[in-house]
Amino acid sequence: MNIQKDSFKILVLPGDGIGPEVVQQVRRIIEWLEKKHRLSFHLTYDLVGAASLAEYGVPIRDEVIKKAWESDAVLFGSVGDPRWAHVGFDKRPEVAILKLRHELGLFANLRPAKIFDALTDASTLKPDVVRGLDIMIVRESVGGVYFGEPRGIEVLPDGSKRGVNTEIYTTAEIERVARVAFTLARKRFNRVCSVEKSNVMESGLLWKEVLTDLHRREFSDVVLSHMLADNCAMQLVRDPRQFDVLVTGNLFGDLLSDLASMLTGSLGLLPSATLGAMRPDGKCAALYEPIHGSAPDIAGRDIANPIGQILSFAMLLRYSLNRQEEALWIENAISHVLAKGLRTADIMSEGMICVGTEAMGDAILGQLDQLVKV
Ligand code: NAD
Ligand code: IPM
Ligand code: MN
Repeated sequence: MNIQKDSFKILVLPGDGIGPEVVQQVRRIIEWLEKKHRLSFHLTYDLVGAASLAEYGVPIRDEVIKKAWESDAVLFGSVGDPRWAHVGFDKRPEVAILKLRHELGLFANLRPAKIFDALTDASTLKPDVVRGLDIMIVRESVGGVYFGEPRGIEVLPDGSKRGVNTEIYTTAEIERVARVAFTLARKRFNRVCSVEKSNVMESGLLWKEVLTDLHRREFSDVVLSHMLADNCAMQLVRDPRQFDVLVTGNLFGDLLSDLASMLTGSLGLLPSATLGAMRPDGKCAALYEPIHGSAPDIAGRDIANPIGQILSFAMLLRYSLNRQEEALWIENAISHVLAKGLRTADIMSEGMICVGTEAMGDAILGQLDQLVKV
């Protein structure tokens, strides 16, 4: 076997709640990869979210953004804490992830919803509806209503208030994320479904026009369809396997990906990669995080599912480090562990073995040892 040793700079931002618990399981896998002398990592840890607010009074420091720029990739846990839920928007833990996406220009958030065979019964949908499911949601992640101006809450003359947010998309913003979706589709099942509300929103109408135009100009070999977002939510539950790549704006992508996660069994299973534009050095800024949040309801109890976080690291290996083989090892190890019947509480079912976060990490590491004899 060809043993090659590279060193990769990874910024690790565990964040809040279950973030540190699930990131710890990735750390063990990184140590395992190093022990196998496959790869060498230079890991830098820092605080984000409520953890950073407590220490520095801000959800993320400029210094951390700078470190993110200088890294090969960022591994992010999750942010959010009910203790900071009532402060102004600039002081919320969630600013950390929004700022990272925005300042690093991470416009394409790839959220794959792929079911493990062993979990076909774990979905709340019938096994026949979800068996073999393999969807890629491409969510625009630095625009739309998340960042549009004007925004804010103003007090009206009668003392009542008005909350404002603005959905904005430009041709260029839509084109660049659509290009990612079409390019991914070519390597998958060659179908893209573009999702918007062109029946109600001008930004949705433009979204549809730009997709149609780009498709005609550059991607006519890919099959393009359009769907209104409300229908898409219904179709994802009715017959999710009709989809290959879904491309949509920031808010619809957020909602539809949480929905899609349950098709595979749990929110705790879905990873994501958020990619920016190609830099002159041929690399692109990239951040990897599970799609779930800090789950304060289960934090600190060693019951969170670490698989979404671990699969996010597998995506990091694949997309940022071009280490397909190691990414596959990890995905296969998870698949085997699930096939043996190990389950965290969120995917537990009758006759299976319920384990905690750390024990799931142990099992995946044990499986890696068995699968990879180097
Ligand atoms: P959440 O994703 O944290 O949790 C939703 C539900 O799913 C909870 O019942 C939780 O226990 C469960 N869950 C989530 N991840 C799980 C896992 N790995 N294993 C087992 N169960 C899991 O969403 P929420 O409760 O709406 O939000 C909590 C906080 O997280 C909020 O502050 C929110 O803003 C934040 N959030 C952050 C991110 C991020 O950092 N990228 C993403 C989503 C939500
Ligand atoms: C996600 C989260 C974030 C989002 C929040 C925490 C800002 O829900 O990554 O899915 O809405 O993008
Ligand atoms: Mn979300």
